[in-house]
Amino acid sequence: MTQFSWDPAQHSVGVEHMDVVHREFLALARVLEDCPNSQFADRLRALVDHTEKHFAAEEREMRETACPSLAEHAAEHARLLADLRRFQQAVERGRPAMARAFVEDGLADWFAIHLATMDSALAAHLRGG
Ligand SMILES: [Fe+2]
Ligand SMILES: [Fe+2]
Repeated sequence: MTQFSWDPAQHSVGVEHMDVVHREFLALARVLEDCPNSQFADRLRALVDHTEKHFAAEEREMRETACPSLAEHAAEHARLLADLRRFQQAVERGRPAMARAFVEDGLADWFAIHLATMDSALAAHLRGG
């Protein structure tokens, strides 16, 4: 069973446009988790491209609404993207094992914690503002 299923109780932050992007992220992660190694590089690229847009949109919204947690939240985004790009380089050199292990053992927890903390704080800021 996939770890990347949309569970509103766990994942919804109560702001529809954020929930839409987060559902898309989970769908891409699910495809990535289940695909054969021959498709892994392309599927990982799709997830990284989506994540770059997802994070940039949140950071733009934080800037536009003067959200006080912008710096901390953006640093966390940058950290995950740096990890994903490092895995991507290994995958493109024909070494998918570390990336596959991260998708299986780290990514779902990272995402759940990020939603429960930083994205929930952003959603509360947007609802309150
Ligand atoms: Fe997010
Ligand atoms: Fe975020």
